[in-house]
Amino acid sequence: MKTIQAVSYPIHFQEESYQELATLIAENNYSTIFILVDENTFEHCYPKFIPNLATDKRIEVIEIESGEIHKNLETCMWVWNAITELGGDRKSVLITLGGGVITDLGGFVASCFKRGIDFINIPTTLLSMVDASVGGKTGVDLGVLKNQIGLFANPEMVLVDDRYLETVAPREIKSGTAEIIKYGITYDVKLFNEIKNNSALKISDLIFRSIEIKNEVVLKDPREKNLRKILNFGHTLGHAIESFYLESEDKENLTHGEAIAIGMVCECYMSSKLLNFPAEKLKQVKDLVVSIYDKTNLLKEDFSAILDLLKHDKKNTNGQVNFVLLNDFEDFKIDCNVPEALIIESMEFYNV
Ligand code: GLY
Repeated sequence: MKTIQAVSYPIHFQEESYQELATLIAENNYSTIFILVDENTFEHCYPKFIPNLATDKRIEVIEIESGEIHKNLETCMWVWNAITELGGDRKSVLITLGGGVITDLGGFVASCFKRGIDFINIPTTLLSMVDASVGGKTGVDLGVLKNQIGLFANPEMVLVDDRYLETVAPREIKSGTAEIIKYGITYDVKLFNEIKNNSALKISDLIFRSIEIKNEVVLKDPREKNLRKILNFGHTLGHAIESFYLESEDKENLTHGEAIAIGMVCECYMSSKLLNFPAEKLKQVKDLVVSIYDKTNLLKEDFSAILDLLKHDKKNTNGQVNFVLLNDFEDFKIDCNVPEALIIESMEFYNV
């Protein structure tokens, strides 16, 4: 059976992982199993999950509303109250069954409840499988500022079963694909080429390779002092664009991956201007992004609002916006300061 060992927890894959889950639950003698879902994962994933949960422990389901808009402290309060009312104690375990909102928020809720109870991540979207559920980042948004409140805390286990993807809309699969492309650009050009050339790779192989890369990066730099910053590639500007669309009532929201894909094109452009990232590779990235995602038209009049949001990025230090840029594929430079005019130019480059 395929397993990846993270710093203090295993990542198990496919059907066989449920046996490992049952063993973990039995060995830890948990008092109650809380399962955190949203209305979508309760309807579509919980019925697939529950027959696989072999346990005689008490099970309580806690359902929150779906969507990034609910990834906040108010929802955490609600979940902490629910766990308390349902008799949660320090021997309780929280299983998060859902996308990045559920795994990030659930991990945070568990880590703070009674100074920390165990949690297990079961990601059900491609994005959470290849990114959020692995690496120990937990947290919630503060207004439109993404992941502003949170802490590093590791789950006891991550269980990745790609059959949950049958429940996910194609647009969400594309959203997760942006993170896989990011691993290709920053860490494994073979992976990038395989996606670009549309090689007949199975989704399970792409997921496994992505998690392998993420785990390797996190093991080398768990607290994001250096190498882990590559995982933010495309995210510095991408997050600002995502937040801008989230807070603009007259615009349709972008998915995380759609925003990050734009961010990757723009940050490759900045790299080409500041670090000699090769022009033909910039073209490859832009062509790939444009071939997968509907084109967004970033309006000139929105640039300054996007720049304002960029200034709140939590990776900033001393009031400076810090980008991770690329000398080449697989060759990064952290803490790059980019002039505002070049950030704007990069968005104009994406637009044409
Ligand atoms: N999502 C970026 C990281 O885990 O570091």
